[in-house]
Amino acid sequence: MSDHDHEHVHDDEERRAEHEQELELQARRMLALARIRQYGDPVLRMKARVVETVDDDVRRLVQRMTDLMHEAQGVGLAATQVGVLRRLFVFSDEGEDRVLVNPVITKRSEATEVDEEGCLSLRDVLVPVERASAVTIEGLDANGEPVKLELELPSSRIVLHELDHLDGVLILDRTDDQSRREALARLRPQPVLGAR
Ligand code: NI
Repeated sequence: MSDHDHEHVHDDEERRAEHEQELELQARRMLALARIRQYGDPVLRMKARVVETVDDDVRRLVQRMTDLMHEAQGVGLAATQVGVLRRLFVFSDEGEDRVLVNPVITKRSEATEVDEEGCLSLRDVLVPVERASAVTIEGLDANGEPVKLELELPSSRIVLHELDHLDGVLILDRTDDQSRREALARLRPQPVLGAR
């Protein structure tokens, strides 16, 4: 066997390993999505309640939601989406995991930007949504300490999206009529051929 052949075998093995890793990530993503409430679940339309105390239960929930967000390959996840009606969400702030308990927007820019937005509760739907380019958001961290974040896009978009979830608002409510119609058509359960 020549060196050249060796290299080929090596490439093949590497490619197979990469492919297997991709499949595993995909499988993990599907499992994670199955644990996230999906469109049609009435809980997604409910208003979450203020968190009274940031205790160990809350911290466990935050850990579970952070893991789930990563496994689902998302950039944000609200408690509502795991069926817990409490005002908190986790998000990825340019790669850094953050949590906000009882979040409130205290400042928002006049400037806005329209961009495609997806949601872990709406699977493959992407719709254009207009959001403030910059926001100041205040709340508590996982230790119950006050935090104040000044965020720009894309983080401003993410926190506004997650905050909406805590009020039962979805991107479908924030997009234009045509995009909403198209999204709803995709979300409608497809008839199973042959089933009568
Ligand atoms: Ni969402």
